[in-house]
Amino acid sequence: MNAAIESFTPASTADAAPAALAARFPAGFVWGTATSAFQIEGAAAVDGRGDSIWDVFCRQPGAILDGGTGDVACDHYHRLEDDLDLLVSLGLRAYRFSIAWPRVQPTGEGAWNEAGMAFYDRLITGLLARGIAPHVTLYHWDLPQALQEAGGWASRRTVDLFVAYAREIGRRFGARVASIATHNEPWVVAVLGHEAGIFAPGLRSRRTAYQVAHHLLLSHGLALRALRADGVGCPLGIVLNQSPSDPATQAPADVARTWLEDGLLVRWYMDPLFKGSYPADVVAHLGADAPEVQPGDLAAIHAPLDFLGLNYYTRNVVDANGVVEAAKCGTEHTAMGWEIRPEGLRDLLLRLHRDYRLPALYIMENGAAFDDEVVNGEVPDERRVRYLETHLAAAADALQAGVPLRGYFVWSLLDNFEWAQGYTKRFGIVHVDYATQRRLPKRSAHWYAALLAAHREAAASARLR
Ligand code: FCB
Repeated sequence: MNAAIESFTPASTADAAPAALAARFPAGFVWGTATSAFQIEGAAAVDGRGDSIWDVFCRQPGAILDGGTGDVACDHYHRLEDDLDLLVSLGLRAYRFSIAWPRVQPTGEGAWNEAGMAFYDRLITGLLARGIAPHVTLYHWDLPQALQEAGGWASRRTVDLFVAYAREIGRRFGARVASIATHNEPWVVAVLGHEAGIFAPGLRSRRTAYQVAHHLLLSHGLALRALRADGVGCPLGIVLNQSPSDPATQAPADVARTWLEDGLLVRWYMDPLFKGSYPADVVAHLGADAPEVQPGDLAAIHAPLDFLGLNYYTRNVVDANGVVEAAKCGTEHTAMGWEIRPEGLRDLLLRLHRDYRLPALYIMENGAAFDDEVVNGEVPDERRVRYLETHLAAAADALQAGVPLRGYFVWSLLDNFEWAQGYTKRFGIVHVDYATQRRLPKRSAHWYAALLAAHREAAASARLR
C-alpha cells in the first residue's frame, strides 16, 4: 500500500443504530432490493421461454466456475408469491427486477410469448397488491440466443429489435410500474462479454466490444424516444456500473493512465448520455477499434434521462499499466476479492454530480458477497451489515452535499447465480439453500428491515422533511 492511497480521507463512520442512519435520508426516499431474471428465475425451458446467450454460455465447459446454469437458479418463477411475501415480511416498498427478453419473445423477434408476459404481469400485479413499487430493467444481459446468431449487439438490427421489445413492454406495463431502465451495466456487456470474453457471449475483440457499447447506448436512446412518443409516463433511465479510479501514486504515468481508465469505464458512457459526444481521448486511444457512429446516433443517445441508476461495489486503483489487482488494494475485501471502499461511493457521486449535473439518481445496486454460513438456524453476516451501513453513510454524505439521490437498492434480495462465479458467491440478504430452495433472511435482512421501519417511523412523525 502506498502513501497516496493511504492519504485518502476516511469515510464517515456510520452510526450503528438504524434510527440515526435512517434520519439522514429524506421522507419519500426509496428503499429496495434488486435481482435480475437470469440470476433467480430458473424455469429456463418452461412456458415457451427461448434460450438466452447466458444459457448457451453456461453450457461451455469451464465458462462457469462451478459448472452452474440458470436452469433452476432460485426457482423464483415457480415461487413468485412466496418471494413477494418475503419482500413484505422485510417491509420493502420497492423492488428492482429485470424482464427476460427470451421469455417474452423467444427469438427476439416476431410473436410475443403470452405465457412469459403473463409471468411479469403476475409479478407486477403481485407487487402492487402488496404496496411495493415495481422498478423494471429491460435488459440485464440475457439476449435471445437467436439474435446472437444473427450478429448480436454488434449488429444494428438488434438495436431496432430492442426498441420494439421496449415498446411492447411499455405498452403492456408502462402505466403500472414505477420506473423503466433500458440497460443494466453496458460496460459489462461490452467489455466483459465481447472484449475479455469472460461473460456471455464470450467474444474477445475490442473492436466488437466498442461497437456493442455504441449499439447498447443507441438502443437506449432510441427506446427512450419511442417510449415517450408512445406516451409511457413512468420515469425512464439507464443503469451504469461506475467506480472512481484513483492513481496508485502521483507519478505522472499513473495519473495519466488513471484518466484513461476513467474514460473507458465512466466517461465513455456518461459523456454521450449527458453531453452528446464520446470522449476524444478515448476515441484516440481506441484508434481503429473506435465504433462506427452514424449521423444522428449521438443526438439519440443524448435524450434527457428522467433518472440515472448507478451500481457501486468498489473503486479502481490504477498504475501506469492499468487497473491494479483489487487484492493488492486496501485492507478489506469481499468474497469477490473486491476492495471494500465506502468512501469511493461518496467520491463517485460528488464527482459525477460536479461533472454532469445529475438528474434524479438511484443507487440501483450495492452490496457484497461473503462466505456466509448458517449457524443454529441463523446467518450472522455482520460483515454485510457493516458494508451496507458504511455505504449508506457515504451515500448520506453525498446527499447532504447536494447530490440528488432518491433511492437505494441492495444487491441482492436472494443469494443467486453470480454469472461466471456460478453459485459460489452469495450476495443475498436472504440465504438460499439450493437443495431445498428454502429462504432464510440473514442478519443483514433483519438489519435492513429495522432501518426501513425506523425511516418510516421518522417520516410518519414528520421528523423528516
Ligand atoms: C453487477 C450485476 C449484478 C450482480 C452484481 C454482483 O455487475 O449487475 O447482476 O451480478 O454485479
